[in-house]
Amino acid sequence: MNQKNTQLEKIISFAKRRSFVFSSSEIYGGMESIYDYGHYGTLLKNNIRDAWWKEMVQKRDDVYALDSAIFMHPQTWVSSGHTEGFDDPQVDCTDCKKRMRADHILEDNGIEADKASIEFINKELQKLDIKCASCGSKNLTEARRFSLMIKSNLGSPTEDLSEEHVVYLRPETCGGIYLQYKNMLDSVHPKLPFGVAQVGKAFRNEIVARQFIFRTREFEQMEMQYFLRPEEMKEKYEMWKELRFNWYTQYGIPKEKLRWHEHEVLAHYASEAYDIEFYFDCLNGFKEVEGVHARGDWDLSEHSKHSGEDLTYFDEDKKEKMIPHIMETSAGLNRVFLMFLDNAYTEEDVEGEKRVVLKIDKRLSPIKVAVFPLMKNKTELVEKSKELYDKLKERWMCEFSTTGSIGKRYRKQDEIGTPYCVTVDFDSLSDESVTVRERDSMKQERVKISDLEKYLKERL
Ligand code: GAP
Repeated sequence: MNQKNTQLEKIISFAKRRSFVFSSSEIYGGMESIYDYGHYGTLLKNNIRDAWWKEMVQKRDDVYALDSAIFMHPQTWVSSGHTEGFDDPQVDCTDCKKRMRADHILEDNGIEADKASIEFINKELQKLDIKCASCGSKNLTEARRFSLMIKSNLGSPTEDLSEEHVVYLRPETCGGIYLQYKNMLDSVHPKLPFGVAQVGKAFRNEIVARQFIFRTREFEQMEMQYFLRPEEMKEKYEMWKELRFNWYTQYGIPKEKLRWHEHEVLAHYASEAYDIEFYFDCLNGFKEVEGVHARGDWDLSEHSKHSGEDLTYFDEDKKEKMIPHIMETSAGLNRVFLMFLDNAYTEEDVEGEKRVVLKIDKRLSPIKVAVFPLMKNKTELVEKSKELYDKLKERWMCEFSTTGSIGKRYRKQDEIGTPYCVTVDFDSLSDESVTVRERDSMKQERVKISDLEKYLKERL
């Protein structure tokens, strides 16, 4: 097993063992590239989402929240160009039927192929000696375009699945923001520039290499569409690039593991596009976690044209109507989740024993405080610690445990990234103090029970 696989295998097995991520439908043999989140995984994912909301909505005066539906009118994806052009180039193995991304094959061979034409891809593929990634056969088809859009049968009782009747599962969440732009204007009356943010599921029929939750067919996006005057684009684009980059470093991602990637070939709607890339140890390279795109007036103009609705904004200052331009920030919640796991997962040697610890920003930790009685068969200790736990859980996500030795309980909390463990021991019964252990340093401190909430509040 090579280096790349070792790290990936470790993360996958850790994620399952500690209830972060499970394969979907495992008892039926699983579903390719679909995953479920367990207890700690759900808590971590929600914390990442909330940290994003805090930055993008709560701390701003110019961004509003939306939660639009997954299903949208079929015309949405015709207008946005997705039914025509949202696809990936694929080659199929005619022997084992494995499907592979043709652009990824070229990229693995050092040829830039992002959004390249199918003619270019086929010409370059012919120059290479390509084998099937699964069975090694050389019997591969030419590259063809494969739509990423996932069809549903919603609302098609007549079985009419012609393009204009197909209801798709949305391939990106921003579509809902464009469709609700007018209602948002008329109901919250924002002034340009302003943003609309939402977090939600998106679906793409991806041709996937084994990359765990990095690229999946069902995933969540955290997107913000910022509506502005065209002359504001340059300044606001730079502002958002900086804000988004800093969000990652504020939550403990080292600057050296992040970089910008400028798109040379742009998506049909974009006039400028940069990605924030993170160096994934488990994937052995820099990979995209978020896109910051200037989309011009493409989306609103197209939806206005196809719906017949007036999607102009009346600019009070200039006394004129205009279609706002849009810049977006678009991050994959599951990908960002994998980034935080990959960055935080640490193996240390502590007095000859391996300690696995998730050194994640405390604000993102699934459990903030674990409370233990030193011994589980001493009623006074159990009662006192339970009382403390009941009090602390009013404020933080806490865990109470009596299972195994105190050392084992510490190790488990280290693995799931719990910043503080509080132990009630025999002295606690007389001195009304507890031992607080910090995750990264493993340092222990005696703290008065009456000061404990204040102590934790200052640190969490
Ligand atoms: N609205 C713009 C948009 O959707 P994108 O670059 O296709 O742009 C944005 O996607 C982000 O969504 C990516 O940076 C990535 O984090 C996430 N993403 C896209 N496809 C994904 C997939 N199949 N699985 C997991 N995350 C994905």
